[in-house]
Amino acid sequence: MLSYEDVKSRLEGAEQAHLLRFWPELSGEQRGDLLSELSRLDFSGLKNHCRGAAEAAASEPSGADQHMQPVQPELVGSVLKSDKKTQANWEDEGLVQISENRVGILLLAGGQGTRLGVPYPKGMYDVGLPSKKTLYQIQAERLRKLQELADLKHGTQCTVPWYIMTSEFTLDPTEMFFKENNYFSLEQSNIIMFEQRMIPAVTFDGKVILQDKCKVALAPDGNGGLYQALVDNKVLVDMEKRGVQYLHVYCVDNILVKMADPVFIGFCVSKGADCGAKVVEKAYPTEPVGVICSVDGVHQVVEYSEIQPETAEGKGPDGELLFSAGNICNHFFTRAFLKEITQNHADKLKQHVAIKKVPFVDECGNQVKPTKPNGIKMEKFVFDVFPFSRKFVAFEVVREEEFSPLKNADEATVDTPTTARHSLLAQHYRWALAAGATFLDEHGNTLPARPSVTAKDSLPAQCEISPMVSYFGEGLGQLLEGKTLTTPFLLDVKRATELKSL
Ligand code: UTP
Repeated sequence: MLSYEDVKSRLEGAEQAHLLRFWPELSGEQRGDLLSELSRLDFSGLKNHCRGAAEAAASEPSGADQHMQPVQPELVGSVLKSDKKTQANWEDEGLVQISENRVGILLLAGGQGTRLGVPYPKGMYDVGLPSKKTLYQIQAERLRKLQELADLKHGTQCTVPWYIMTSEFTLDPTEMFFKENNYFSLEQSNIIMFEQRMIPAVTFDGKVILQDKCKVALAPDGNGGLYQALVDNKVLVDMEKRGVQYLHVYCVDNILVKMADPVFIGFCVSKGADCGAKVVEKAYPTEPVGVICSVDGVHQVVEYSEIQPETAEGKGPDGELLFSAGNICNHFFTRAFLKEITQNHADKLKQHVAIKKVPFVDECGNQVKPTKPNGIKMEKFVFDVFPFSRKFVAFEVVREEEFSPLKNADEATVDTPTTARHSLLAQHYRWALAAGATFLDEHGNTLPARPSVTAKDSLPAQCEISPMVSYFGEGLGQLLEGKTLTTPFLLDVKRATELKSL
């Protein structure tokens, strides 16, 4: 920890001496807390960070919109547009890589989840499924099942290590939650949690915000903080030791995520890609999602806020939307690519401005909860490494099968606990129907097949299938074909054993 004099002179150099303005009235313990927090700031970059944040917040959007081109068709794979055999080949390739321990997964779980508004990490959220499983548990079980599928096919005992990036907000509770749940029966040594950096929030005139008299307003540095965190925590060294060559990176909040999806991994590997991204077709031209495209020949994500409506509406020769590749934060990277990024490009990643309401302490020492945005949080985004890729590919998947993020509390209309729950139940119902089951409601009436939950009045049947029974709908025919089942229906391992013996 630095001395008071040291911190003071460094802060003065960075034009941030106001952070010590309450020093005379702090207790010994509070002074210790503040000094320890300030000592951890990156003083060499602090002045630039603060000035850069204020300038970026005041500047116009980039204008990338003018130069956008769709990704070339030969670099795009598609679940919808490819035949069963091609998909099976990709899946086989993916399962080979998984069975030979060359695949790892990396969960981005350092976000504060402010929109959802719960005081614990989003992964611990239970969206109200019949099983009451949390997002972390669902993911852990998918991982176990996937390893099992690869082992069954190749007679191996493989491991897909699970790297979890957390932040100061999420590390302790996540660690505790996994421990309390006995790591969901995964090997503890194959779950590697690490922490990303925190950076200060800044006012519009470039001053670091004091949240409390003895506490700086810090926030995680965005999911693109991943690349610095990989270095800080020697994650690539761990991957190398384990022989992991390919990494699937994903967000904590997508309840439908297919972790280490063998089809996606197999597609990327067979294309020789160093970097890949799953995309879904935009629901409508101006949907607020980032678009994967090429700008002046360089692949990248252009944020919806930077795309003019006329560009968003642009159509190709067959009337299809030109820029329909919505980014769903589901990425493939080779270890070699990540090494190149961390060694040569991590410090060049773009900083994005997020204007937020940041609680602060006013000149008189009163705590203030602002009613309108007063601060800038700078964030890096995980996708900002795409421009450095030598072989970038995109992989189009079906939204209702693979993407339903939990972003907001239930008061909102989209991306809520309810929509996440419905997406999962509807998917499992589709799987069960496709496997040949018929469902009755609690009064014995036959339930109709409801193909989607998009219609507002159509609630999905209560049908939940444990990932320990099926990773992505496979293997259900032998259990469900010709069976008439009553909802709510929960197909866990015990029920599957009973059904098998019928
Ligand atoms: P979001 O951008 O949706 O942020 O993160 P969030 O923190 O979950 O929610 P809000 O915006 O505060 O409501 C997308 C993914 O990136 C991770 C999140 O945990 C989520 O999986 N993330 C975000 C990080 O890992 N670190 C960050 O600094 C920010």
